[in-house]
Amino acid sequence: MHPDLDRILISREQIAQRVRELGGEIAEQYRHQEGPEGLTLVTILSGSVIFLADLIRELPLRMKIGLITVSSYHGATTQTRGSVLVSDLNVEVAGQHVLLIDDILDTGGTLRLVRQRLADAGARSLRICVLLRKPSRAPADVAADFVGFDIEDAFVVGYGLDYNDHYRNLPDIGVLRREFYAS
Ligand code: IMP
Ligand code: MG
Repeated sequence: MHPDLDRILISREQIAQRVRELGGEIAEQYRHQEGPEGLTLVTILSGSVIFLADLIRELPLRMKIGLITVSSYHGATTQTRGSVLVSDLNVEVAGQHVLLIDDILDTGGTLRLVRQRLADAGARSLRICVLLRKPSRAPADVAADFVGFDIEDAFVVGYGLDYNDHYRNLPDIGVLRREFYAS
């Protein structure tokens, strides 16, 4: 285990198994909705890159990938100060079935922002898939259609999730030791 972690919350094996299952759930949902264009997966950078890479290889659907960058943490803090669009959507989503992919649903500010952006861009349908959700904090107005794991309200890193842009490369998801972050 990485020395900055207090404990592993979800192991790489558990992640791999759940991502496979999620692929099955999503494929089942969209099986009958595949037009000639297929599905457009819009991924929120940077936290979701590893999840996206693993998930799409478990998704036997015709698809395009779009990227959008949102920042929700500013500097060395775990508190969100509101979400801002850093780099806009790089694909056309008008008339498309869109599946939005994010690493974690916490206060919902990030997904609320991107969901509005996709609605404004004319997406035909919109569903949300998150690897993690903190149910104690998730707001009523932002619901995820596909959820990998519900977790406790702890600050986690690894498998794409960062603290101040570090730890994304850790293969397991773990709770960061309290002395390594400023609240
Ligand atoms: P929200 O906007 O509060 O829902 O937060 C979502 C974003 O905040 C995610 O896309 C993550 O980038 C980040 N985030 C929220 N909770 C955590 C955490 O426990 N560890 C790392 N990043 C987190
Ligand atoms: Mg982040």
